[in-house]
Amino acid sequence: MVNRFENKVVVITGGSTGIGLATARLFAREGAKVLIMARNEAAMRSARESIYGDVEAISGDISKLRDLEALAAYLKRKYGRIDVLFANAGGGVLGPMDAVTEADFDKTVATNFKGTYFTVQALLPLMGVGTSVVINTSVAGSKGLPNFSVYSATKAAIRSLARTWTTDLKGRGIRVNAIAPGHIDTDIMVRNGIPADQVAGINNEVTKQIPLGRMGSAEEVANAVAFLASDEASYITGIELTVDGGWTQV
Ligand SMILES: NC(=O)c1ccc[n+]([C@@H]2O[C@H](COP(=O)([O-])OP(=O)(O)OC[C@H]3O[C@@H](n4cnc5c(N)ncnc54)[C@H](OP(=O)(O)O)[C@@H]3O)[C@@H](O)[C@H]2O)c1
Repeated sequence: MVNRFENKVVVITGGSTGIGLATARLFAREGAKVLIMARNEAAMRSARESIYGDVEAISGDISKLRDLEALAAYLKRKYGRIDVLFANAGGGVLGPMDAVTEADFDKTVATNFKGTYFTVQALLPLMGVGTSVVINTSVAGSKGLPNFSVYSATKAAIRSLARTWTTDLKGRGIRVNAIAPGHIDTDIMVRNGIPADQVAGINNEVTKQIPLGRMGSAEEVANAVAFLASDEASYITGIELTVDGGWTQV
């Protein structure tokens, strides 16, 4: 077995389900000390129990600066540093443009844009030469998908952060990249308000547009995150790596 992350301190926001959970499993399997953060404590407990390796969970909401400050203080006390940050937590209210409310807008922006921004800012004092930050964007950030207006705009915004931060952090040896998943088999749609009975139809329609002819798995995204986080990607910074079965290329 490869142990690319032996004793590395890896922080994964939204590590309790879906892509974050698959990524936490991969890092833990490869020897990392993994910390996951999300809001739902029951989901985090079951995630922790399902991961083989060194993993701990802290509950918190990335849209609340005090939760991020508490996370940073805990990590500083325990490790004094972090080696990998996967800023993965995200979601948002989906729906047609004329139905988006101010509350929907604020919630989506607070999670994806503000939350990602301040996650990275809060943990920056713990980063040093060799730290890798991976931001979870989405192909939605560069496609005109119906019902995704606010979500997509927040993802385009955080893709932009990966560019800007490479120069903000110039000379500090910290790499920042984005990962852009395509249509990945997780519960994200149901968890963000799409009725369960519509999900199969949406999956069917989207899959028709994907050259590889299927949805991706959370593990396939995790593999790409681990690559960006690893020393194999030591000269890669500022990019967005798309994991979408070719969807955005056709
Ligand atoms: N699945 C896809 O097709 C797809 C495609 C492109 C991009 N993505 C992105 O991939 C990331 C993970 O999505 P997923 O598909 O794995 O969906 P998911 O299963 O719904 O995972 C979302 C994770 O983020 C956490 N989270 C959400 N809001 C949070 C907040 N305010 N503070 C802390 N944690 C929060 C959730 O836990 P709690 O709710 O308990 O907090 C959960 O652990 C998201 O950023 C999503 O936008 C997914």
